[in-house]
Amino acid sequence: MAKAKKKSGGRSTRQRPRTDAISLLKADHRQVEEWFSQFESARSLERKRALAAQICQALRVHTQIEDEIFYPAFLQATEEEDIHHEAEVEHEGAEKLIAEIEGSGPEDDYYNAKVHVLSEMIKHHVNEEEKRGGMFAKAKQSDMDLSALGEQLAARKAELMASSGSTLRAAARRSAESRV
Ligand SMILES: [Fe+2]
Ligand SMILES: [Fe+2]
Repeated sequence: MAKAKKKSGGRSTRQRPRTDAISLLKADHRQVEEWFSQFESARSLERKRALAAQICQALRVHTQIEDEIFYPAFLQATEEEDIHHEAEVEHEGAEKLIAEIEGSGPEDDYYNAKVHVLSEMIKHHVNEEEKRGGMFAKAKQSDMDLSALGEQLAARKAELMASSGSTLRAAARRSAESRV
């Protein structure tokens, strides 16, 4: 009778939650989409600056773990060169725009346009990864070890977030100081 509180949904065992590679990458996509939509409705420059910084950091980490871990494993397992190469080229395009956004601020006339165009590029790219017959679907059909890759992605992501987190804090501090 006193068991009611245990009745939450989800896992019944206490083992470490396993994050498979696709779930981890899709969760990143959803997070960034949410921040892009918050950016679109943000009014204050400070809020825009903070959201853009979060978006850029998350995208840098996300594209890096894909480039280092997921994409090479995908190419090796599926030999889908076209899908792989196009995804890499799209990452490069996004990285250029991310660098421009990081090098400017919401007081720049083109800032909103740059963030908006980045969101459109990312929307297209995410669709290429997630669509029927796209990279993730093909990865699932292959013999890739998605759960081992998920662990590698999670570990590398934590490492990169920790180092870019301190860079982000330093940048926020500099920007706050420069406005005093
Ligand atoms: Fe992705
Ligand atoms: Fe990607």
